[in-house]
Amino acid sequence: MIAKVVSSAVLGIEAYLVDVEIDLAKGLPAFNLVGLPDAAVKEARERVRAAIKNSAFQFPVKRITANLAPADIKKEGAAYDLPIAIGILAAQGIVEEESLKDYVVVGELSLTGELRSIKGALPMAIQAKEEGKVGIILPPSNAKEAAVVEGIEVIPVNSLLETIDFLNNNEIKNRIDVNYRLDLEPDYKVDFAEVKGQAAAKRALEIAAAGGHNVIMIGPPGSGKTMLARRIPTILPNLSLDEAIELTKIHSILGLLSTDEALISRRPFRSPHHTTSNAGMIGGGRIPQPGEVSLSHHGVLFLDELPEFNRNVLEVLRQPLEANEVTISRSLTTLTYPANIMLVAAMNPCPCGFFGDASQKCSCSHYQVERYLNKVSGPLLDRIDIHIEVPRLDPDVLASSPTGESSAEIRSRVNQVRQIQQQRFEGEEINCNAEMSGKLLEEHCNLTKEGQKLLRSAIERLNLSARAYDRILKLGRTIADLDNESMIEVDHIAEAIQYRDLDRKLFVS
Ligand SMILES: Nc1ncnc2c1ncn2[C@@H]1O[C@H](COP(=O)(O)OP(=O)(O)OP(=O)(O)O)[C@@H](O)[C@H]1O
Ligand SMILES: [Mg+2]
Repeated sequence: MIAKVVSSAVLGIEAYLVDVEIDLAKGLPAFNLVGLPDAAVKEARERVRAAIKNSAFQFPVKRITANLAPADIKKEGAAYDLPIAIGILAAQGIVEEESLKDYVVVGELSLTGELRSIKGALPMAIQAKEEGKVGIILPPSNAKEAAVVEGIEVIPVNSLLETIDFLNNNEIKNRIDVNYRLDLEPDYKVDFAEVKGQAAAKRALEIAAAGGHNVIMIGPPGSGKTMLARRIPTILPNLSLDEAIELTKIHSILGLLSTDEALISRRPFRSPHHTTSNAGMIGGGRIPQPGEVSLSHHGVLFLDELPEFNRNVLEVLRQPLEANEVTISRSLTTLTYPANIMLVAAMNPCPCGFFGDASQKCSCSHYQVERYLNKVSGPLLDRIDIHIEVPRLDPDVLASSPTGESSAEIRSRVNQVRQIQQQRFEGEEINCNAEMSGKLLEEHCNLTKEGQKLLRSAIERLNLSARAYDRILKLGRTIADLDNESMIEVDHIAEAIQYRDLDRKLFVS
């Protein structure tokens, strides 16, 4: 007696179908699992046995073999409990085999036969649809994320018994509302309108958001760096449906979605602690799991107190910053996760925090300041286009009520500039000015005569490197776009140069 149930597994952010074949044979009672299962899958034997018995069925006294195919890919986790149990019952004729071919079945079983949530329901539902399945049977807590996929039936089941009931009668008990459709209007709970003063910093962040530039903010403690950074996602364009699905997939495979969250509509803001390891930052594990760079995909990765991070961790960030994705190799497999992030960093200018402050004297020695700044590597700084100083607020401004623009107003300008870039880079591999290099820089960064003159004299006077030159051009492009000008004018270049000021002041570029 052989039965086959279709299940699903996730590798990277994609899912693939897994056939769960169950063979019941005469012989000494045994229960073997084959097809590269890991420890958690092997434990399925005990859960399945208990769940079947506690659902008032007999567990067959036979030689049971469960095969998970394809056999060349390592199977992880507890999502195969339900398909294995259903397969055993189907092999005994308790479950109708007929309906099994139309559905993908996933779910972890408790000993009583109740279902527990699984990881990766969204990619699994996408894959099930692509393979032409009618529906996906899964735990209720995963139903909403799967229901995002149109054109596939999502069948939430509470228990093994309910699953059997559905497969035999095509009847769903406890149907929960999965007709949840997307509402991509995000609610960020913070707004730029709350930030007092800091007009220069806000302007720089608007430019950064408009052109996709990475930013570093330097200033004394309490000047509002963290507060400003938290508000950057609120001025980025709303996520498109494709972006939201891609981001939700990453959270889905880590099991991080809450049960009532169908799709992540807010751009992520991740602020990993400075003790984060390499694996925590870029991803890792025996079968690599995504790290902070992928969890902040399409959003902001904020590195607060930048010099406190392990230098090694900052170095591994360079690859994802370059490629917008991260590739992690482990002995079992090599996986690539998306990691298209806006990097925002913040730091004090010295250990005490007051180097260069107008009102408070810095107590650090020259050597201490230099050592502190040197902790941040040149190659990483090279990836950061905008350097801004965030000075402490004037007490009068701090005591007054905030008067600045709201995030929505700033975002509408950012959206316009993003549209200009979309047209500009049509057919190219890139989306934002910040990603331009070589040929594209020359093609799209035309300066007026005065602009050229100013840039040339700045290079001589400030002794700028070739890299700094490129960055000024890119920034100038974004600033000109905000002005809706096709040529980069002298004012635009002047402002762009100003965002490189700190380079000379603090770092030796
Ligand atoms: N421009 C501002 N408008 C309104 N409140 C502000 C502003 N700047 C700072 N604050 C207040 O001060 C608090 C501290 O600011 P924040 O944590 O952003 O400082 P920081 O620059 O990150 O400091 P540190 O270097 O110590 O991390 C904020 O929570 C906020 O209440
Ligand atoms: Mg801070």
